[in-house]
Amino acid sequence: MLSASVKLVVAFAAGRGDPGLLHFVRLLLSLVASFCLVACQPKGDSNARPAPPFSVAELKPGGSASVSTRPFASLMLPSANLPQSARSQFHAGKALAHQPWVKAPTVTNARDGLGPIFNARTCLACHINGGRGDLPADASRPIFAALVRLSIPGVQREYGAVPEPTYGLQLQGQSISLQHQFRHHPPAAKVREAAPESYTYIDWQAKTVAYADGETVTLRFPTLRFAELNYGPMSERVLTSLRAAPAIAGLGLIELIAQSDIDTLADPEDSNGDGISGRVNLVWDAHQKKVLPGRFGWKANRASLMTTVAAAFQQDVGISNPVFPSQPCTELQPDCTGMINGNNSEGFEIDQELLDLVVDFTRNLAVPEARLLQLGEERLQQGRQLFYQVGCADCHTPSFQTQSTTGYNSHLGGQIIWPYTDLLLHDLGPELADNRPDYHASGSEWRTPPLWAIGLSNQVNGNAVYLHDGRAQSVAEAILWHGGEAASSQKQFRHLVKSQRQLLIEFVESL
Ligand code: HEC
Ligand code: HEC
Repeated sequence: MLSASVKLVVAFAAGRGDPGLLHFVRLLLSLVASFCLVACQPKGDSNARPAPPFSVAELKPGGSASVSTRPFASLMLPSANLPQSARSQFHAGKALAHQPWVKAPTVTNARDGLGPIFNARTCLACHINGGRGDLPADASRPIFAALVRLSIPGVQREYGAVPEPTYGLQLQGQSISLQHQFRHHPPAAKVREAAPESYTYIDWQAKTVAYADGETVTLRFPTLRFAELNYGPMSERVLTSLRAAPAIAGLGLIELIAQSDIDTLADPEDSNGDGISGRVNLVWDAHQKKVLPGRFGWKANRASLMTTVAAAFQQDVGISNPVFPSQPCTELQPDCTGMINGNNSEGFEIDQELLDLVVDFTRNLAVPEARLLQLGEERLQQGRQLFYQVGCADCHTPSFQTQSTTGYNSHLGGQIIWPYTDLLLHDLGPELADNRPDYHASGSEWRTPPLWAIGLSNQVNGNAVYLHDGRAQSVAEAILWHGGEAASSQKQFRHLVKSQRQLLIEFVESL
């Protein structure tokens, strides 16, 4: 009775856009909610981890940087609290991440230098509308918005893995050569031009799993096929790893989480005996030229946004830059190294100033407000309780406070944020393993990804694909693949009744 009227007032206050009233009502709601948590706790489960009281702050996962989902949800908006004076900078960075790069030479040298080999012409060709990249549903077309990482066994200090001798650390499926763009009717070649390295096709395999109540689900997992290896065979010892493009909202906030907060969560030897370790990756940062804790990427193999974005320019788009000044070719690819580049007088295709604009753009892609209230109070509290109870929050750490900072990103400092990640590496078992180590991350370890805005994947671009290789086509499928340190959590999820599973999933999709 009380809760129904609270909901009505929330809807009313939200509709009227009255912030004072809305705030008061949310406060009231959180009080009712905390009461319910005490009174509505499931009884008789000795393992149950109680959820902490609901806080209204959870409705704004990016703190004051969060943006509204009205009139529609977007992952391309600037932080709500980005000062007006910095907005043109955001839009300039967005243009550089969005408009296609072109082959050199051109009349303007600000946007040329694409390739010679590359994966896509722009950042947002993969991070579509700021969201996830798509994966081919079958082997009728090669991958386009995803990547294949390559290496051979061993460790190399700067790269974290030893590059495959001919193809390097990543397979580029496109090139600027016109010859190869008409590959079925190539014009007579007068000059030798760089060919795309290869075309990667996914043959999806099926696996069926059952919930404890007998319901079955058919999951898919990828096996890769490389067609036309244009620079000769790969090493017989090659290690490959398919990587789906993640959403890139909220990264400026993630960047401002204190390393000491992450270190506190780490438990490399599992000394508390809960079956969950959690390790920090240590990686070479090409920008700061030292070894630092890794934070970005599926295996936390990048320490800073600067290095992440600079590496993406070099490897994914073929744009040399002050952090990674070379072209994406290896020495065994003379057709590639010999092609004309778009370097400026300093030897880069994008200079530091423009690179900074793109980094600041990725820093300020805003996290949308959570849709938790739309669940209704009861479903929200139950789903939330289940999330903590089955141990999701043991790795998907709900909340942090970002460090204060000065300068361009000062508005992102001191925020209470709700990313649902510990940014640590966890062994998720043999089925998710790529068996390709990256710095200190083993072949079966992955960084816990943030869960904020995950439920908007479909709305922003139709690509609701999850996990490092995009194999999961729903949140439930993603959970069902959790093994290793997350096996107990996954098992508890599998043993929930259908209505409870639904509540947990709704909660995750509303974060
Ligand atoms: C061909 C597709 C593709 C292109 C083009 C691309 N990316 Fe990515 N991006 C990915 C994939 C795949 C990953 C995950 C890589 C990994 O962890 O191995 C990623 C990771 C990232 C991350 C880290 C996200 C996180 O949560 O840690 C950032 C930031 C990023 N990309 C920004 C960019 C920018 C900026 C550009 C343009 C310069 C770009 N990307 C171009 C596919 C792409
Ligand atoms: C032991 C740590 C751990 C636990 C416990 C855990 N996860 Fe995860 N989760 C991870 C890691 C690591 C990944 C990335 C795995 C990969 O990409 O292969 C992941 C991935 C995910 C993804 C996909 C995210 C994306 O961006 O694609 C979802 C959804 C998810 N987890 C939800 C949950 C839920 C819900 C629970 C509780 C039932 C849970 N996880 C329990 C560590 C954990």
